[in-house]
Amino acid sequence: MKYLIILGRNIELSVKEVESYLIRINNPLLNYSINKNAILIEVKEKLNNIIENLGGVIAIGEILSSGEIEEITNDLSGKELYSGQKNKFNYVLWNYSKEKIDEISIYLKQKFRFEKLKAIEKKLTGKVKLQNGEIVDNLVSNLIEEEYFLFSKDDENYFGKITQKCNYEELEKRDMNKPVRRESLSISPRLAKILINLSLIKKGETLVDPFCGIGVILQESLIQNLKVIGIDKDREAIKGANQNLSWAKFNKENYRLISNDSSSVNIDKANAIATEPDLGDILKKIPTKEKAQEIQEGFENLMIKVINNLKNKISGRIVFTAPDIRIGKKRISCNIERILERTRLRLVEGFPIKEFRQGQIVGREIFVLEK
Ligand SMILES: C[S@@+](CC[C@H](N)C(=O)[O-])C[C@H]1O[C@@H](n2cnc3c(N)ncnc32)[C@H](O)[C@@H]1O
Repeated sequence: MKYLIILGRNIELSVKEVESYLIRINNPLLNYSINKNAILIEVKEKLNNIIENLGGVIAIGEILSSGEIEEITNDLSGKELYSGQKNKFNYVLWNYSKEKIDEISIYLKQKFRFEKLKAIEKKLTGKVKLQNGEIVDNLVSNLIEEEYFLFSKDDENYFGKITQKCNYEELEKRDMNKPVRRESLSISPRLAKILINLSLIKKGETLVDPFCGIGVILQESLIQNLKVIGIDKDREAIKGANQNLSWAKFNKENYRLISNDSSSVNIDKANAIATEPDLGDILKKIPTKEKAQEIQEGFENLMIKVINNLKNKISGRIVFTAPDIRIGKKRISCNIERILERTRLRLVEGFPIKEFRQGQIVGREIFVLEK
């Protein structure tokens, strides 16, 4: 089965997330090809509605036809592309193909006219800058009823329709309406989902967040029917996490909150860690190289202590973010070799992956470790 996935702004991270999520649901990625910010994936089983569990994915589409453009248009003439009730609607055509898009655009106009539908193709006028600097199309209007796409790779073209879309409103509501918020310290629900997916945790298993703060990673995990243990040495943060998880009405049997130091706390056996530790002071000015190195050393010491305290209780992966500090044009990362040597864990291939916004002084690097 083939699907199109439109990714968020950090392509490298989103691809890894999709790959990891498909392992989590026992439907591993067989193949994929990439074009701008979209990937065409091949999996064995049908994909259900999965977009809510992915933090770095904007939309998912089903392939309706593939081959030469002529084969596609012949094939589509017998198919219903519009599933709405009104006979008037707007649509967009995502272009992941070079020169062939016009043929499809013309074909769709004729097809809808023939079917007596007042269908208007709206151009994708929005733009978004990816982390790698590339600028790609973005859908900004919400007055669009249908989204189609053409993805081309080598001689093969894939036409299809977007069937799953990220519900930004729902995500924002969940984040903004919770009783306790700590804007400057909290991780976004999107990044929380990405870390959970990278941990490869499966349904019913237990995830630990040893720097849980007010519980964003815990909340996103509980939504996915995982069990969680949250630890924070700040009692106020644990109180906040408790309020947030009670507000979301999760089953209390599925979470445990511990107010303690993660470098000495004793916990039950669990399956994985996904966490955003203290990334050091919030820096308003670019620090000196010495200051950046000092922050990194403090971070490494904390991680070594916490990982060594918890690793024997964790059967699977340890996923964490680390500070990535800008000093002039260069960035200073944490010394992962030192962490690996002192914890005797290994770095999973393909990591670390950087995650930062243009101009941000402290960005993140995402690490995935295993035994
Ligand atoms: C960046 S915040 C985590 C934010 C969290 N992801 C959230 O959504 O609220 C880091 C947290 O780690 C906690 N912390 C720092 N050192 C700790 C330690 N040794 N043991 C447990 N918690 C610690 C801090 O109190 C802080 O709440």
